[in-house]
Amino acid sequence: EPGLCRVEPFGAFAAARYEESSALLKDPRTFSSEALSAAAEPPWIGPNPVAQSLLTKDPPAHTGLRALLTRAFGAPMISRLEVRVRETSERLADAAVRQGEVDLVDAFTHVVPRDIIGEMLGLDPSLFPNFKRWSQGMAAITSAVTPAQQEECRSVVREMKLALTEVLETRRRHPAEDMVSELLQAEVDGRKLSDDELLSFLFLLLPAGVDTTTQLLGNAMLTLARRPEQLEQARADKAHVPRFIEEVLRYESPTQLSFRLATRDVELSGTRIPAGSLVLGIIGSANRDERVFEQPDLFLPGRSKGNQHLTFGYGIHFCLGAQLARLEARVALEAFVSRVRGIELRSSTVEWIDSFGSHGPATLPVR
Ligand code: HEM
Repeated sequence: EPGLCRVEPFGAFAAARYEESSALLKDPRTFSSEALSAAAEPPWIGPNPVAQSLLTKDPPAHTGLRALLTRAFGAPMISRLEVRVRETSERLADAAVRQGEVDLVDAFTHVVPRDIIGEMLGLDPSLFPNFKRWSQGMAAITSAVTPAQQEECRSVVREMKLALTEVLETRRRHPAEDMVSELLQAEVDGRKLSDDELLSFLFLLLPAGVDTTTQLLGNAMLTLARRPEQLEQARADKAHVPRFIEEVLRYESPTQLSFRLATRDVELSGTRIPAGSLVLGIIGSANRDERVFEQPDLFLPGRSKGNQHLTFGYGIHFCLGAQLARLEARVALEAFVSRVRGIELRSSTVEWIDSFGSHGPATLPVR
């Protein structure tokens, strides 16, 4: 239906259709990320570790930050990483095939993005196993209620800050050919990133780069298990893989929601939204809008009218890592499908991650 609906428990306004979801994401002055971040910041956490990152800024602050980060995060870095993504994916796929019965999340879908982001950040590999706990702790900052939950979040922030500060200091003394060294050097119009901005960006990359891609790979594996003809096509024709990935992104979107705060009284498709309201774009629903996608509830890789899903967002905050996520998914799937005949799920029910904003399997026991 046109218009927005109200959703509890926050009394938020929710845009379920493509038109309203994209309108929301297109207008950062009316629907602010910065005001949302300030309003959602719990006092017990101390300085919010991602408060100076681009995700929580509106123009004009966002504009300069994005220009600086885009330069360091560009095509040369992505192509440098391709070799590492391939090596990691092939090694893990070989190990999974050797073991026969595995949980694909633990053995593959989490480990590929985890190791790639860990390497991009220049962190010691002994810290990589901590990433799951770290991103869970970061995600829990807005919902932690008990003193024990809050202490766990604070302890995660302390551990991450220590590790990331050490990386920054090392790279400042000994620059290398990596992302952190490039971020330290990056300069646009005579401006460089401040230490707070650098640290906030590195903090953001863990949940933004690992969890989402884990879910994309998990949803892709689940789809291959449920639709064996897709696995056959991907193995027979490499060109099918990117089409398949785009359809998984649309059909099983890892990001289901995007939040904003209304900065003024505004009307969207006939619904009056008072200033200060929480407004959310339901990406997962917009991606199934029949006004934009023909037969939206069918899984159809290579859609004839294109596949302009909102899974990576829209407008100024469009995902900075979209190119990397697509590369990781393509290379990981190529490595996997060339090694396995089929994927058999060991359980008929899927255990999903426990989150209302993200979508992907928590475990994937297969043989
Ligand atoms: C922003 C989704 C992978 C880094 C976003 C946004 C979405 C998104 C929806 C916009 C959020 C908003 O408007 O509020 C995804 C999905 C991914 C993925 C579905 C994987 C399938 C990655 C990776 C990285 C990354 C691999 C980095 C290594 C970022 C950053 C932003 C962002 C830095 C903030 C951009 C800005 O505010 O200008 N992502 N992401 N993402 N993503 Fe991703």
